[in-house]
Amino acid sequence: MCGIIGVVGSSDTLETLLEGLARLEYRGYDSAGVALVRPGETWRARTAEGTESVKALREECDLAPLGFSSGIGHTRWATHGGPETMNAHPHLDCSGNIAIIHNGIIENHADLQEQLEARGHVFSSVTDSEVLAHLIEESRANGFELIEAVRRSLLVVRGAFAVAAMDATEPDVIVAARRISPLIVGTAPGVTYLASDIPAILDRATAFYAVSDDEIVRLAPEGFRAIDLEGVPVHLHPLAVDWDLETAEKGGHDDFMTKEINEQPDAIRTTLLDRRRRDGTITFDELRVSDEELRDVRRVVIVAAGTSHHAGLVAKYAIERWARVSVEVDIASEYRYRDPIVEIGTLVIGISQSGETIDTIQAIREAKRRGARVIAVTNIVDSSLARESDAVIYTRAGLEVSVASTKVFLAQVAALELLALRLAQLRDTVPASDVDAHFLGLNAVAEQVATVLTRRSSVEDVAKQLLGARDFFFLGRHVGFPTALEGALKLKELSYLHAEGYPAGELKHGPLALIEPGVVVVAVVTDPAMHEKMLSNLAEVKARGATVVAVATDDDESIAAIADYVLRVPATEPMFSPMVDVVPLQLFAYAMARGLGRNIDRPRNLAKTVTVE
Ligand code: G6P
Repeated sequence: MCGIIGVVGSSDTLETLLEGLARLEYRGYDSAGVALVRPGETWRARTAEGTESVKALREECDLAPLGFSSGIGHTRWATHGGPETMNAHPHLDCSGNIAIIHNGIIENHADLQEQLEARGHVFSSVTDSEVLAHLIEESRANGFELIEAVRRSLLVVRGAFAVAAMDATEPDVIVAARRISPLIVGTAPGVTYLASDIPAILDRATAFYAVSDDEIVRLAPEGFRAIDLEGVPVHLHPLAVDWDLETAEKGGHDDFMTKEINEQPDAIRTTLLDRRRRDGTITFDELRVSDEELRDVRRVVIVAAGTSHHAGLVAKYAIERWARVSVEVDIASEYRYRDPIVEIGTLVIGISQSGETIDTIQAIREAKRRGARVIAVTNIVDSSLARESDAVIYTRAGLEVSVASTKVFLAQVAALELLALRLAQLRDTVPASDVDAHFLGLNAVAEQVATVLTRRSSVEDVAKQLLGARDFFFLGRHVGFPTALEGALKLKELSYLHAEGYPAGELKHGPLALIEPGVVVVAVVTDPAMHEKMLSNLAEVKARGATVVAVATDDDESIAAIADYVLRVPATEPMFSPMVDVVPLQLFAYAMARGLGRNIDRPRNLAKTVTVE
């Protein structure tokens, strides 16, 4: 997730930008840059030094001329185009007067770039963002003031953006706008700021305002005015901010996990952006395995650890159902040592949030050594896993700080299900109209997750009732099984309570002996095809005295008769349900852990990234 900052009217412009960028560090970045603008002159510095980028930028800025009262700055988390200096923001137009920064993804950038190049524009990066600089340039050349030029440009772009633009021919003005990606405005006497998040400008601004989707703001030293995409004036909502820096970094929440759980709808949205061409073809920019190779895949092997392994288990159902290829899912640390079979046509998918988990890296090395083609699914651009694989699909969930993974799980499932649909297209195993319908269904999941997030307090009420419990079984069938595994893992990691995930059908082969009063059974019963069987499993545990918590759909009337507590979720296509159904389980684990006084972001004995075997 890139970070953006801007200031107009400051006597301390450069320091404001550099300090603000350092404070956006927690968003994660691989490169950084600033642009300063005054009448007739735009000065720019950029660095691509990984996590040292902001420090390196400060050194570069020693050369900056004095006397600029306006500027913009950016920390980049690469999506389109590698983490290189030429791709770092700000980007300039052909004249070098206009500078833009952008967080988000412009979905139709390829079409727009082609049209702009045909009209003579020269591009100097391989980012999706640069089109914005050239689009604004065209409107400025037609005589429109900057705010109108930005408005006109945004009418033709699709995707997500928090964007800010400056022009040396209209100095001391910044125009900023947003859709999906975060943006706030701040004011102090004679100075106006913008930023992705409050921490960047916390000590400097005295009043804060939220910019909503499709709003455009013109910032000047004396204040700001805002319009919508039609040009109609709008008011920005003031934000009450009485946070210290630490709270501000957590978006005002008590911990990173709450922030990350709340970011889940956007994690799905951004992971899905830009993945379908106008002709319906599912596409992955970073996928460097040819269509022929994907079409000819005979077997898929997925290797991963922890939560990523659970995402892999969901992918097995999707790939087998849609692409009709058999899929094996292996724990990464097991794969390497069992003399794995790699035949012609074996595709190995390594899934890892961090891209640095040693077991997963060793597993894909082993697979490559034996001749497999390897695709990485990771959240970190240029991570070891990404570099060592033949191809990579990035989840675009942004930096995840809390040790226990939440938003990246949803993004992984979304990315893997997209890959399943791509395989199905290539192998012609699903009618085109069904692929389209699935793609739309997948896109609707973000809204369903947002709905579940509004029900947090009802999950907390259930957790309060169960705070004394010590043994938990999580049950599910079909994709409800990996969802159950992930629910159990969250409870273990966060609350240190004993929790096991099981396929509900396995219950009678052992775990049933452990069921007695005091044991809690948490069951995922959202799939209509599995509903009846799940209810009989629940009857079995009920009869032995267990307390039953069910994750069930809003329209499920029969569940209340058997479950002691029901966590409601909107109904969704079963294949997509893990992304929705896991959310109440995350919230449940969180509430239990809070109730027991655990350290939410840093559970005992655990590490976010495990780099030893
Ligand atoms: C650790 C983390 C888990 C994570 C697992 C795999 O155990 O605590 O949250 O799921 O590693 O990490 P990866 O970065 O490979 O997805």
